Amino acid sequence: MGPVAHGGHCVSRHEGRVVFVRHALPGERVVVEVTEDRHAAYCRADAVEVLQAHPDRVERACPYAGPGRCGGCDWQHAAPAEQRRLKSAVVREQFARLAGLDVDVPVEELPGGPLRWRSRARFAVDRAGVPGLHPHRSRAVLPLADCPITMAPAAAAVLTRRWPGAGAVDVAVDSEGAVTTTRLDRRGHPQSTRVVPAGEHRAVEVSGRAARRAWDRDWQVEGTGFWQVHPGAADALVGAVAGYAAMVSGETVLDLYAGAGLFGGSLASAVGPAGRVVCVEADPAACAAAHANLADLPQAEVWQGEVDPAAITDLLADVGRPDVVVLDPPRAGAGPAVSTALAAAGPRAVVYVACDPASLARDVAAFGAAGYRLAALRAFDCFPMTAHVECVALLQRS
Ligand SMILES: C[S@@+](CC[C@H](N)C(=O)[O-])C[C@H]1O[C@@H](n2cnc3c(N)ncnc32)[C@H](O)[C@@H]1O
Repeated sequence: MGPVAHGGHCVSRHEGRVVFVRHALPGERVVVEVTEDRHAAYCRADAVEVLQAHPDRVERACPYAGPGRCGGCDWQHAAPAEQRRLKSAVVREQFARLAGLDVDVPVEELPGGPLRWRSRARFAVDRAGVPGLHPHRSRAVLPLADCPITMAPAAAAVLTRRWPGAGAVDVAVDSEGAVTTTRLDRRGHPQSTRVVPAGEHRAVEVSGRAARRAWDRDWQVEGTGFWQVHPGAADALVGAVAGYAAMVSGETVLDLYAGAGLFGGSLASAVGPAGRVVCVEADPAACAAAHANLADLPQAEVWQGEVDPAAITDLLADVGRPDVVVLDPPRAGAGPAVSTALAAAGPRAVVYVACDPASLARDVAAFGAAGYRLAALRAFDCFPMTAHVECVALLQRS
């Protein structure tokens, strides 16, 4: 078996074709079963038998993981330290390929171990109302009695009952233990939300907002709104962002793709009352949560709108040259147009938080072409057992 590749598989070759093999580890000898064969250049396969195992291969902790089974996890068969080495290799390979940079960063472990870390999850529901998860690259629903990477109250709230008529169920456990479930229809639209506070067994009528604690502050988040899934992630990422941003009193920071205001709110005390924090977020519900979260910080404001080159021009006309830009876009990244527009704004530092190292590497290349170099990079294992990895990059003027 060849090296690990982005997406939770290893790369092998057979008769000149690339084979992306799940459930294998680099260096292993395995028997594979082809699972998808639609492209001339490559096919996909599962390792169904291991002839020569990697020293860090382990028994899967989840009875639903494995070839042809649940597609939720990618690395259940690797020891946690090896999972982090695999992710580090993926970050390195993506930066080499997409940004022409050689980076060698360890993937840092978060507290709590590899199981029961998911504080938010979306479970699928089949036509009979039975909840489960999808096998890899499939719309089928594998029924589950538990999901060992999901926090136990969240898994139990969804998987111990049926959901007739639903297409999926979102579930979240907040920092106080309250469990929020949101039924979605078959088109993914929310149908109803139910909240059970910690220690109670009955749903109550509440706003649908969840309470989160991070960086010594309390945060309100809309039930289905974005918040880091791993309970240790918000603190770890804010720590990395604050370290790279190194804000000083009186400075201005833009927090783009701000969600409920986590990064902007956390940096507000460093810029002080003489500074300015501008959070920009597209989702109106997240903006409402951010307004509430930042209400005690007069130096912080929330702008509702899309982050795009035109909006950046408007923002700069009002704010002037920002000292620091923090951005935390969705998986696809900010893209070259936004990256170039931000570089043109001339901040002393850009701190880029990314859940996809490929998108990050592409945007780092765009910043590079616009005069900003990668000055530092950290990576965190915010999604143990899966192939996902969260990165925080510091870009500075070359
Ligand atoms: C990865 S989340 C980051 C949220 C926040 N930084 C945090 O850590 O909690 C990305 C956020 O970007 C928002 N978003 C997505 N596309 C956007 C766009 N084009 N302009 C502004 N916000 C956008 C989403 O609503 C979401 O809140």
